Amino acid sequence: MRALSGIQPTGRFHWGNYFGAIKQYIDLQDAHDGYYFIADLHALTTVREPDVLRSYVRDAALDLLALGLNPDRATLFVQSEVPEVSQLCWLLMTGAPLGLLERCHAYKDKASKGIKADVGLFTYPILMAADILAYDSNWVPVGEDQVQHIEVCRDLARSFNAHYGEVFTMPEAKIVPGAAKVPGTDGEKMSKSYDNTLALFGDPKELRKKIMRISTDSRPMEDAKEPDGDHLFQLYQLFATREQIDDVRAIYLRGGFGYGDIKKRLADAADAYLEPARKKRQELEKNPAFVAEVLRQGASKARVSAEKVLSRAEKACGLK
Ligand code: TRP
Repeated sequence: MRALSGIQPTGRFHWGNYFGAIKQYIDLQDAHDGYYFIADLHALTTVREPDVLRSYVRDAALDLLALGLNPDRATLFVQSEVPEVSQLCWLLMTGAPLGLLERCHAYKDKASKGIKADVGLFTYPILMAADILAYDSNWVPVGEDQVQHIEVCRDLARSFNAHYGEVFTMPEAKIVPGAAKVPGTDGEKMSKSYDNTLALFGDPKELRKKIMRISTDSRPMEDAKEPDGDHLFQLYQLFATREQIDDVRAIYLRGGFGYGDIKKRLADAADAYLEPARKKRQELEKNPAFVAEVLRQGASKARVSAEKVLSRAEKACGLK
């Protein structure tokens, strides 16, 4: 079964990206034929500086490989290196009802705030559908926020198939189990737009400083505190072992502790967890030819599949 997912290179990855999505995608690579791509065409709807986009794409590739994406098992590529996807996108556009896209939240949220959206944002779900259909994907592991887009993809595939014959494989969204809802430094959902992120890679000292600034309540030291629902404890759970978690849980329930101590434990646990990936990333950085080759091979493998699907679709609708 083929599992496919795309990740937008719109900034450096943070803990929320990793524990909320990337980690689960990488875990799938053992049991599935994993196709993972860096969605640079989608990122173009928000990143409009060429050098910045280039560096985000490069960083995304390094990060994913450092985090354990195994190019011997999974196929990793850059979206724009498979031009068939853009061609397929046009075919899907010709049959896409406006109303279907008007209901999509990325566009709708912007429009409801009175922000002018461009056509790229409006048609974003169609490009996503092309991504999915181009590789005959069976499973699309995504977070809750993308489920609507998978529904759009299924709608488009269904109506194309109904009109032209069975061309597309019907994909299914797979809401990844165990995907953590990761709080940011202020306790809200970790997100670049809230400026509350903690970096996966970057200067460990900076990270430690940021961890020490995580917001906490102003309860007196001696009071016991319910650990569940506390965002500092939630963050600690992402990195700590079972025993460490039980220890800290007991400290919360007992009371008489300062949050500074928990933050220090969090920083230590995060350091220990991230260190191997940091090392791996440093090695990869020294070997850009290897990374380029992984992406080249990934794209050429992905193209074989995309060419087949595109050709099927073109024949079906009378272009060939
Ligand atoms: N829109 C997705 C996101 O922002 C990224 C993406 C692009 C994607 N194409 C895809 C995800 C195809 C799954 C399948 O997270």
